[in-house]
Amino acid sequence: MCGIIGYIGAEDAVDILIEGLQRLEYRGYDSAGVAVCHQGELALRREVGKLNNLIKRLAKEPLSGQMGIGHTRWATHGRPTEFNAHPHTDNANELVVVHNGIIENYLNLKTRLQAEGYHFVSETDTEVIAHLIKSHFKGDLKAAVLATIAELEGAYAICVMHAAEPNYLVAAKKNSPLLLGTGQDANFIASDVPAILRHTRDIIYLEDEQLAVVSQHQIEVFDLQGQPQDYEVSHIDWNMVAAEKMGFDHFMLKEIHEQPTAFGQTLAGRVSEGEQKLYLDELNLSPEAVKDIRRICIVACGTAYYAGLVGKYLLEDGARIPVEVDLASEFRYRRPILDRHTLVIAISQSGETADTLAAIQEAKAQGAKTLGIINVKGSAITRQVDGVLYIHAGPEISVASTKAFMAMLGALQLLRLYLAHHCAQLNNTELVAAIRELRTVPRLIEETLQKIEPQIQEISTQLLRYHHCLYLGRGVNFPIALEGALKLKEVSYIHAEGYAAGELKHGPIALVDPLMPIIALATASDTYEKLFSNLEEVKARDGKIIAVATEGNESIAKVAEEVIYVPAVPEWLSPMINVLPMQLLAYYVALRRGFDVDQPRNLAKSVTVE
Ligand code: G6P
Repeated sequence: MCGIIGYIGAEDAVDILIEGLQRLEYRGYDSAGVAVCHQGELALRREVGKLNNLIKRLAKEPLSGQMGIGHTRWATHGRPTEFNAHPHTDNANELVVVHNGIIENYLNLKTRLQAEGYHFVSETDTEVIAHLIKSHFKGDLKAAVLATIAELEGAYAICVMHAAEPNYLVAAKKNSPLLLGTGQDANFIASDVPAILRHTRDIIYLEDEQLAVVSQHQIEVFDLQGQPQDYEVSHIDWNMVAAEKMGFDHFMLKEIHEQPTAFGQTLAGRVSEGEQKLYLDELNLSPEAVKDIRRICIVACGTAYYAGLVGKYLLEDGARIPVEVDLASEFRYRRPILDRHTLVIAISQSGETADTLAAIQEAKAQGAKTLGIINVKGSAITRQVDGVLYIHAGPEISVASTKAFMAMLGALQLLRLYLAHHCAQLNNTELVAAIRELRTVPRLIEETLQKIEPQIQEISTQLLRYHHCLYLGRGVNFPIALEGALKLKEVSYIHAEGYAAGELKHGPIALVDPLMPIIALATASDTYEKLFSNLEEVKARDGKIIAVATEGNESIAKVAEEVIYVPAVPEWLSPMINVLPMQLLAYYVALRRGFDVDQPRNLAKSVTVE
């Protein structure tokens, strides 16, 4: 949600900033801007819309300088206009600031600053930061930024440049992500690793309430009192190739096809064939601690929430521990009852979703044990929880999540086996058998994708004429129906609803007619017969059914107009297979409707504001 970048070094800043913004565009794409400092003068360009508009503007009105900052925006306060685009300046154009987050007390600050004579040109919360820094600046930018952030309430990651201080940038953060990169004759500031990965893999994750002074050859980190702080440099173990499209038309399609690898990476080093053991020390949950868990609460948003719902079925069934799943945005406001016997699990690709982070903070405040199932290393949630199970999906760029969802399911499967084993629900022989089955999943995903993709392309053309779609599933595949509907909504803008098939007759059946296609997850399961009856009811009302069914099931063709056959797998593994047609269908429908698949309108990949 908004991407920021800063560069200071020996090369010209503009190309480096623009390339960084291209890799951050998934965080927001309502407007973009860059500012550079050249011979003690600041210059900036901002444009509404996607980054390409800014690139075109820069081609006509070029900038140059060896120090600069850039921003790609997801609008919160103020419409996407040029005035609201970042960077923002003070009235004298002496300093510029880019910001990610929300300043909650900006109206109070704005009123005060206006009374002091500062003139506002935008509707944003960010502009107060520029004027505040100006009001505190007495020749020392670091001191001015420290005094400014002491007045800010809310979330911020900022990067500041001052014309009178042309040898360094200042960065600071609280509750929004920001990292620094150490390069060859250059240093970097960015919201996320891919933005600077072409230049460096040595990263410093800034902590909350820290400020950094970044010059060409030095990085210094301070606390809010201005005291120097030690920092660690982490080496990133994936490279640029992982963040490129590699011949695919879109990141979404590439990431769908990366799922065998993503799932394999989640398992890697944690299970080994023939051994009755899982290597999951990072959970920070000893066998004794597992026995002490009386309840599990899962908190997450969006696609991660649906992974959590699958987790409920997996963990309750496997370990016989009660599991609740909450939308993270609801969790803390419903005054949840937690204690030290509750394990609260945050699931998040980015590890920075504001609501999920706040839910974990609530859990900690109430003394619960906490665990993160997270993709991005060193992200905000990972620094709050007692244990982190990294999903190792690699960088996910498409706004609509696919491979991270798959890897989240992989992590939940591992957790299921670990808890079930230590809760005496799974003996050694059963554990070995389960591990063996789990290890077949990457191959099954690969084979399924290959087999179904041409058919899904065909089916996607049939769906183009519809405005609504109903997704049905039962049991562990009910959340997959919800995820299927979400995927279609997100990228193709077709209205879709997911339902537990048994609920059909309690309302949604009223919607069934020839204009309401039904996508049914009808693979082999304990409740298959019941789901089949639900489909008969749909058929009797002229509903068009597209069914995902287990290979060999011929009778499904009696009710379904289209059948997408997938391989037979045990029910607990079926979500990882059944989600594949859901993802491909959403992708191909969006593609045929001509939409921007990787950057759907109004969305952002990580939502760092409430
Ligand atoms: C946004 C994204 C979704 C994502 C959700 C949760 O809404 O558009 O794709 O599922 O945030 O993100 P997280 O990073 O916490 O998994």
